[in-house]
Amino acid sequence: MKIKQTEFVISAVRPNQYPEDGLPEIALAGRSNVGKSSLINKMMLRKNLARTSSQPGKTQQLNYYRVNEAIYLVDFPGYGYAKVSKKQREQFGVMIETYLRERQQLVLQLLVIDIRHEPSKDDVLMYEWLKHFEIPTCIVATKADKIPRSKWDKHLKQIKQTLGADKEVPVVLFSSETGLGREQLWDTILDAIDA
Ligand code: GTP
Ligand code: MG
Repeated sequence: MKIKQTEFVISAVRPNQYPEDGLPEIALAGRSNVGKSSLINKMMLRKNLARTSSQPGKTQQLNYYRVNEAIYLVDFPGYGYAKVSKKQREQFGVMIETYLRERQQLVLQLLVIDIRHEPSKDDVLMYEWLKHFEIPTCIVATKADKIPRSKWDKHLKQIKQTLGADKEVPVVLFSSETGLGREQLWDTILDAIDA
């Protein structure tokens, strides 16, 4: 996919703040610090349009990025970060659940997992929830550059197994560091939009 134009549009916390132009949306969920915002930057070929941090808990709203005036990438706050207050965790939960329940424009949910680690309980719950609500899902195993190539297959298998992923669910191996998987993920996104 050729990137012609990218822009940050809005940080939304409530449905009445979501954009109203009806473009298809691809949203990213996953644990704090797995690399959701970095993945968005890599997909858009922007260095730092989505704010990233080595400290977990950086993204705090539903951040909308528009690509080629045609698609939104929607960055979620991460889950599972203990240092975020209980109240804030609850607010993140409500924000994400409301979006997933209500958003008709959502065409594909990316579930972003750090390839080094087995999916957490929260990851498994998120996957089950997406399945229950029949939201088209793609698993993205990121930070691939952090483990040797010889271990990729074993880790991918473990991730699919722990999540109990259906055979049809696409899995993309990704690295925001090297750009591995970028074209494959754009193809998966474009397929979902056409579906
Ligand atoms: P929250 O906003 O807290 O939910 O985190 P996030 O999932 O958006 O993570 P973010 O993109 O901010 O990245 C967290 C850290 O991981 C940063 O220090 C990134 O540079 C690093 N990182 C992200 N993706 C990769 C990757 O593919 N490879 C490597 N080596 N580091 C990465
Ligand atoms: Mg983030």
